[in-house]
Amino acid sequence: PHPGWATRADVVVIGSGVAGLTVALRCAAAGRKVTVVTKARLDDGSTRWAQGGIAAALGEGDTPEQHLDDTLVAGAGLCSEEAVRTLVTEGPDAVRRLIATGAHFDTDADSGEILLTREGGHHRRRIAHAGGDATGAEISRALVEAVRAASIETIEHALVLDLLKDDEGRAAGVTLHVMGEGKVDGVGAVHAEAVVLATGGMGQVFSATTNPAVSTGDGVALALRAGAEVSDLEFVQFHPTVLWLGPDAEGQQPLVSEAVRGEGAHLVDADGHRFMVGAHELAELAPRDIVAKGIMRRMRETGTEHMYLDGRHFGAEMWASRFPTILAACRAHGIDPVTEPVPVAPAAHYASGGVRTDLRGRTTIEGLYACGEVACTGVHGANRLASNSLLEGLVFAERIAADIASLRHAPGRPPVPAEDELPGTPAPWETAGFLVPPKARLEIQRAMTAGAGVLRSAASLRRAAAELDRIDTERASTLEAPGTESWEATNLLLVARVLVAAALRREETRGCHWREDRPERDDTAWRHHLRVTLRPDRT
Ligand code: SIN
Repeated sequence: PHPGWATRADVVVIGSGVAGLTVALRCAAAGRKVTVVTKARLDDGSTRWAQGGIAAALGEGDTPEQHLDDTLVAGAGLCSEEAVRTLVTEGPDAVRRLIATGAHFDTDADSGEILLTREGGHHRRRIAHAGGDATGAEISRALVEAVRAASIETIEHALVLDLLKDDEGRAAGVTLHVMGEGKVDGVGAVHAEAVVLATGGMGQVFSATTNPAVSTGDGVALALRAGAEVSDLEFVQFHPTVLWLGPDAEGQQPLVSEAVRGEGAHLVDADGHRFMVGAHELAELAPRDIVAKGIMRRMRETGTEHMYLDGRHFGAEMWASRFPTILAACRAHGIDPVTEPVPVAPAAHYASGGVRTDLRGRTTIEGLYACGEVACTGVHGANRLASNSLLEGLVFAERIAADIASLRHAPGRPPVPAEDELPGTPAPWETAGFLVPPKARLEIQRAMTAGAGVLRSAASLRRAAAELDRIDTERASTLEAPGTESWEATNLLLVARVLVAAALRREETRGCHWREDRPERDDTAWRHHLRVTLRPDRT
């Protein structure tokens, strides 16, 4: 079968978080015809859930150089210094342009200056926030409004399937599965001169994650199937303080922002002991991987399933004004942070790796770009510094838009065909092999949490790999109907397998990759990246 419909744009952007919508706005402003495709609604991705804020050297006395130093330390020897320098030097102006686009950050009532908080790994107050702890929601609101005001075409409820390529192997569009809402239905295609992946992360590969249900690694899976290079997938960041809702909690879990620690809350065990004091010079504000490890160690020592975050000394007024989202989430689960310590434990939060790009956001396939969490630009290394992700989305979105603007007159590029000349396209499941049944999603998540979570070893990773192999073998025996759930399960399986293979291969502990059986960082053997390009028969 062929796609039931096709449309054409200069640029197709897949995903509608800070990265995707910023690319779309900047490309549209440069006169390109842009189509934004998103799996649910425009504001359903991870951006909306971001709490703490956006890091940039905006404060008095702060400099990009200091931001660079903190980012490099958190990245544990694997950041690209050039990429980080780009991020931190272009960051402050990118934030100012976001403000000009309509986002409102919290400001001091007297001076009008942007208020800045601290988070793990930052040696100073550097994080701008909105609505107290609803920064992502405000950014999302402002960008969605701007996209609507600019009349940019959007296709909601459409899962991207595969990359279309022209005869010379360049990106030429994508195929989509549209879920019966909006103006089109069934399988379709958007043909375009430039394809921008901004699909976000893959937190749903684990049982408990801060990521929304839509974060199923679709962009990384598409890139792998298309033959693009992917890097650093073993570096999954586990956020140290996620509200603990019991040992069997699955799916998206409420985040308790690092900013709560930034404003002075303490991490304590059941006896009230501040176990991070003395463990690192920054105590509770050490980089995220160190705090997550500290919590896990203390949980083991005390035989418990969680630790506590104690912010009772903030008082009711500060909780309500500074952390209204967290306060409401805790109370919805019967916990009152004003009067009791909040139970917290680490959960999957952010993919530091992804589709490898250069500083213009170009992947290894011409015409295919990646931006935001789906990308691996080199700024995060082995462990992303808190609140650098919204910033990365903004800065590299602008760079991608500038690069695409420069393509218009590139010699030798054929014009994009008019709509009635569009070539037919093979259905993606004909090239991707058998789809994975939706029920496998839970099996994948449980195998990954048991074997490839915060703490890993060769043995645990092999067990996860064996279970993923079993799921993979089973899929060949059933012809699963194509649909969003089967495509998501298929994507989760593919990214999980690559992640586990990389984690097995990296025989050391570095950043957020913690191997119990290889507890030391090994700069002699392992100060390099694990890059993966799949052969077409391996997807
Ligand atoms: C948080 O608010 O703790 C999350 C910040 C981040 O992931 O960068």
